[in-house]
Amino acid sequence: MTHIRITEVGPRDGLQNEKAVVPAAAKTAFVNALAAAGCTEIEVTSFVPPKWVPQLADGAEVLRSIRRVPGVTYSALVPNERGLEGALACGVDAVAVFAAASEGFSRRNTNGSIDEVFTRLAPVIRAAKAAGVRVRGYLSCVIACPFDGAIAPAAVAGCSARLLELGIDELDLGDTIGAGTPNTIEAMYAAVSAVVEPSDTILHLHDTRGAALSCVERALAIGVRAFDSSATGLGGCPYAPGAPGNLATESLVRALHASGWETGIDADAVARAGAQVRATFDSGGGAG
Ligand code: HMG
Ligand code: MG
Repeated sequence: MTHIRITEVGPRDGLQNEKAVVPAAAKTAFVNALAAAGCTEIEVTSFVPPKWVPQLADGAEVLRSIRRVPGVTYSALVPNERGLEGALACGVDAVAVFAAASEGFSRRNTNGSIDEVFTRLAPVIRAAKAAGVRVRGYLSCVIACPFDGAIAPAAVAGCSARLLELGIDELDLGDTIGAGTPNTIEAMYAAVSAVVEPSDTILHLHDTRGAALSCVERALAIGVRAFDSSATGLGGCPYAPGAPGNLATESLVRALHASGWETGIDADAVARAGAQVRATFDSGGGAG
């Protein structure tokens, strides 16, 4: 059976998009439960200014409190050199930097143009590699931008090439607002495959319109073998009230296992971990 790599991003992408601020101890328990469920890559938190994302202001405390399971990669998202220093001080195994394929999202999310963000990231990537940690490079809005609308696949390919030239170890393509369909995912990959093999990319799907699993199916046919997801689809979407957040890990795992792929993850245990953290802010319990 072929292994599909899944990065659990619920503690970071999920919890950053929930209105409630989850207590650090509940975040720690969540991360520990995800590792126990078989997740081998967990994006634990981010090191961004608390005024931008107050939900994750306790990232250092969480990283220092979790029980490190050998073989599990614990990572953090960092926007700049200061964020990288914070993450390295907590002994992360990997960091993720992020840029966008659209000007509107780049300015709103990172307070800089696409060019400015690439300039800002160059020394961050260099320093991370010098420190010996793996660097993931996210590119957001690879299908559509909440401010600029549809994004041309050629623009995504151009930004992907620039991120790779900066020395990232892996490119993660983000459908930030869950606008993708199997056809637009395929069109995006048709352009991006001129700069990197689909099998060397990660696909990061949000499930705003419920199309994420069908996009996974098409991506698998194209050769993609790595995906991001969040337990119980944590996260919602600030641009689509009531919508689910990232693709739910347990749904992804069940769909993959049903089609004969292997993930090493226990879907029920992931769903329980998600329900447990949701119980701290959502009296209705988990979604998955
Ligand atoms: P800025 O406001 O232009 O930054 O933000 P600045 O350098 O002018 O600093 C402003 C203040 O923040 C200063 O403090 C700095 O010291 C402090 P003050 O003088 O006002 O007291 N500061 C920091 N504090 C803590 N940690 C730091 C840090 N850096 C500066 N690292 C910046 C620019 C890039 C920092 C900001 O725009 C930012 O962090 N944006 C990120 C917002 C965010 O986290 N978005 C969500 C993550 S991306 C995502 O979810 C997409 C993804 O899932 C993929 C997909 O779905 O597409 C990855
Ligand atoms: Mg995301």
